[in-house]
Amino acid sequence: MTDVCRWDVPGRVNLIGEHLDYNGGPVLPMAIDRTVTVKARARDDGQVNVWSDLPGAAKASFPTTVQPGEVDGWATYAAGTIWALAERGHTVTGADLVLESRLPPGSGLSSSAATTCGIASALDDLFGLGLDRTTIALVGQHAESGFVGAPVGLMDQIAVLEGTAGHAVLIDTSETPHLTRPVELEWEEDGLVLVVIATGAHHSLADGEYAARREECERAAEELGLEWLAQAGLDATVRLEDETLKARTRHVLTETARVRGAVNAISRRAWPQLGTILTASHASLRDDFQVSCPELDVAVEAALEAGALGARMTGGGFGGSAIALTAPEQVQALRERVEARYLAHQWSRPEVMVVHAADGAHQVPN
Ligand code: GLA
Repeated sequence: MTDVCRWDVPGRVNLIGEHLDYNGGPVLPMAIDRTVTVKARARDDGQVNVWSDLPGAAKASFPTTVQPGEVDGWATYAAGTIWALAERGHTVTGADLVLESRLPPGSGLSSSAATTCGIASALDDLFGLGLDRTTIALVGQHAESGFVGAPVGLMDQIAVLEGTAGHAVLIDTSETPHLTRPVELEWEEDGLVLVVIATGAHHSLADGEYAARREECERAAEELGLEWLAQAGLDATVRLEDETLKARTRHVLTETARVRGAVNAISRRAWPQLGTILTASHASLRDDFQVSCPELDVAVEAALEAGALGARMTGGGFGGSAIALTAPEQVQALRERVEARYLAHQWSRPEVMVVHAADGAHQVPN
């Protein structure tokens, strides 16, 4: 069917640089070889219909004039994308959209960015909107912040659009538009793999807590007289009085240094050093930024007990996934160790999978 356009958009893991993309810091995500597929067909009656293979998702329908608050649940990402396009003056006349996900639901692997950016890319094709990648990323971000209600940065959208196989994307978020550069990843040549542990945990506090962290960082930057908190020097934590703001700032400035250390370790293929940096990032997110949760901490501990070179939570936190760098022959031991620890806590079984750095969003012929 030639009138159907299909886009495959990967999820992402963030290797390092967590909660820095709204602080003007560097982040280092990579697109992964698990995708969301968006199939789209144009309509001319002002109606949008969406079908999804998510468990329990029924068909959703709304008009192209949809406004925030008029759609809820899984379809908010689709409705938010239509709304964000319209907000930028890109009106579409209607569409049928089919979403198929190969990302575990709620795994924090950016199925939301994959969905919004995939829908925007498909509608761009169908209606000849002439959007470039930066605009598609901004539409995805606007859909999440203005419609879904999560005031996210731009890391996930850029990662799922601009990733390339075998590379991470180093994003400098202090510039507008953000500057990006591919960073070659050669751990597989050196006998290592990246493992994702999808904890299955999702804490309901999450959305409000993300916004709260963002607000705390903005307050700290303001008190320090900085445009971006990632510009803070070592004196910043001494200058701040509030203990919470001190801790948040400590994370932001140490994480900024860790990203630079990680890029350096990757370029030298110094994998044990990279592993140490990843694990230190987790401790900072757990103790100073306080966005981890027991399921993520246990996943990281179990991965390290099973011999991983390093491990950390990835993404926004409060559930979702952890990553670990390990040898392929140790993946099974890691899986067993994590499962045993989860069983002891009576938590449901986490999904453990090896991922590879993959290409970003691309159109697939029907
Ligand atoms: C979520 C957001 C990103 C980023 C991360 C934390 O994934 O969508 O913009 O802030 O959390 O690094």
